[in-house]
Amino acid sequence: MSATAPDLSVEIAGMRLQNPVMAASGTFGYGTEYEPYLDLGRLGAIVTKAVTMEPREGNAPPRVRETPAGMLNAIGLQNPGARAFLDEKLPELREFGVPVIVNISGRSTEEFVALATMLSVAGVDALEVNVSCPNVAQEGMYFGVDCEMTGELTAAVAGATDLPVIVKLSPNVTDITQIALAAEEAGADALSLINTLVGMSIDVEARRPHLGNITGGLSGPAVRPVAVHMVWQVARAVELPLIGMGGIMSAGDALEFILAGATAVGVGTANFVEPATMQGVIDGLAQYCRRHGVERITDLIGALETG
Ligand SMILES: Cc1cc2nc3c(=O)[nH]c(=O)nc-3n(C[C@H](O)[C@H](O)[C@H](O)COP(=O)(O)O)c2cc1C
Repeated sequence: MSATAPDLSVEIAGMRLQNPVMAASGTFGYGTEYEPYLDLGRLGAIVTKAVTMEPREGNAPPRVRETPAGMLNAIGLQNPGARAFLDEKLPELREFGVPVIVNISGRSTEEFVALATMLSVAGVDALEVNVSCPNVAQEGMYFGVDCEMTGELTAAVAGATDLPVIVKLSPNVTDITQIALAAEEAGADALSLINTLVGMSIDVEARRPHLGNITGGLSGPAVRPVAVHMVWQVARAVELPLIGMGGIMSAGDALEFILAGATAVGVGTANFVEPATMQGVIDGLAQYCRRHGVERITDLIGALETG
């Protein structure tokens, strides 16, 4: 048993976080929505909902569907656009005193570059590049399913900003380590993974898809073993620090990602189930460290034993 409080702080892409627990993009609004339920000042960081250049209305409803141990969503990047984000959302987010990571999404490399340039302002601590976006120049093929497109996009964004660039990887690929390596070689400062897995579900009585968009992204505990495996694979392939996510509901779940090689973790779908989840995860990490005589959480990163 360690007498002093364990050190939960971690460093990722040059940012010092008081603990490794951050809100995952798209599941935490702009933070303020959750203020009544938890102390936002205790979080490691807040990742915003995707910001696009122009405001977006999102997809036709229904946009979410509960599934066994998870959910499908097809929100469609609804957001007020970069200008309104800077003017209205960012000042409020700053008040919580924790690093703000802005998730950016675009339909072309040019849109990503324009966003990176515009959002490189005081008060934004890092950019998270959502490569799970269709590239209009490549017939809507997702940036993140192709090494070349991921590399080009990463290099273009890194060249347009002095902020740390986190590339958020899609699990909908044949070999995620190849995409991770392409992002690393192109100048990413960190990687986050995983985004949602493409899925669909069908209302058999109506013979129609449950979602207005037909397909959606699967998240929640159902995806966790896939996500832990991908973090473990990527951690062995690249040098970059990783932010692991996918179905984290508890400190034990977060520890799976950390032991597999993640420096930090994101909590997404769990926020819809229990808005105070992240507070419980942070407290649970400290308890685990005390119970195991671990002085620094960083000692657990990649500490999985397989022999
Ligand atoms: C409703 C919803 C909206 C999301 N929106 C975004 C987004 O705008 N950008 C992004 O990169 N990821 C987005 N994600 C993916 C999450 O950030 C996360 O990577 C994924 O859901 C896995 O984590 P979880 O199982 O803890 O939710 C969204 C997920 C959900 C459920």
